[in-house]
Amino acid sequence: MANSITLQNQDYFNKEAATYDSRHADLIQRLTTTIRDNVDFIGADWKTSNATPDGEPVKLLDYACGTGMLSRTLGDYVDQCIGIDLSPQMVEIYNTRAAEENIPSAARYAVQGDLADPSDPSPAALTGPEFYGFAIAAVGGGFHHFAHPGLAATRIVERLRPGGVLAIWDFFPHAHDHDDGDNHGHDHHGHGHGHGHGHDHGHHKHTHNPDTTGDDEATTTTTAAHKSEERDGTHTITKHGFSEPELRDMFTAAGAGHEFAVLDMGHYSFKRDGQREMKRRMFLAKGRKGRD
Ligand SMILES: C[S@@+](CC[C@H](N)C(=O)[O-])C[C@H]1O[C@@H](n2cnc3c(N)ncnc32)[C@H](O)[C@@H]1O
Repeated sequence: MANSITLQNQDYFNKEAATYDSRHADLIQRLTTTIRDNVDFIGADWKTSNATPDGEPVKLLDYACGTGMLSRTLGDYVDQCIGIDLSPQMVEIYNTRAAEENIPSAARYAVQGDLADPSDPSPAALTGPEFYGFAIAAVGGGFHHFAHPGLAATRIVERLRPGGVLAIWDFFPHAHDHDDGDNHGHDHHGHGHGHGHGHDHGHHKHTHNPDTTGDDEATTTTTAAHKSEERDGTHTITKHGFSEPELRDMFTAAGAGHEFAVLDMGHYSFKRDGQREMKRRMFLAKGRKGRD
């Protein structure tokens, strides 16, 4: 049974799906360019650079795919993209966009699912062979929303073929927006200010992080603050960024610690209507599963 943070994420992103691409157009464009510039850093066995010895198609798992940003970014380097997302509305937009781009549905499609539910180690809808054997699993902006990031990493790595790569873009540690003296903007993608100190400002009482504290329901949040968080998506965030040591530990524990590396992608700005610009320092992290 999904916990409350998962249900809040599903509800929030269902509502966000229709406008997600237009609201984040600049960010998506910049991330797309940076990630494409770094396909060698990611180092998957891309179809263009290293054809698979066994002739199997090169498959990308776009986990927490949203509307498909990473599938569009990396689609040219693989034979097939399969997206999985908690939100049915995001899945619908993903599939609509693939169809609009005239990509055959067998080559790019998404399904609704959650690989990180502790009570459901093998979701029935995701047991088919098509959901295994990925050369790369990519997760864009998803990990800071997961109720159990470590479990998610492990379950995703299970879906990789030997030698497959896990790649993540997300935020370096940053202050919670309510703690952040000089910046009270709100956005699920960027509230507060990316300090890049290499430490996590920690779990704030307004947030939910079952992985670290188990306090799935905040008790001290005011009603007004809660309403604001529900509007801006703050309530869907479980972790305010990841440090390099945390990432290394997570990749290693998940079984993708080989060739682990983190690329600092620099600061990215976010802006929503009527709100101040906010910044996040972003990383691209990658690690490889053992080849045997
Ligand atoms: C910030 S969006 C990122 C979407 C996309 N990857 C991108 O780069 O634009 C986060 C996505 O994570 C999804 N998500 C949150 N929790 C999830 C979970 N446990 N399993 C799968 N998807 C999840 C949300 O539905 C949402 O589509």
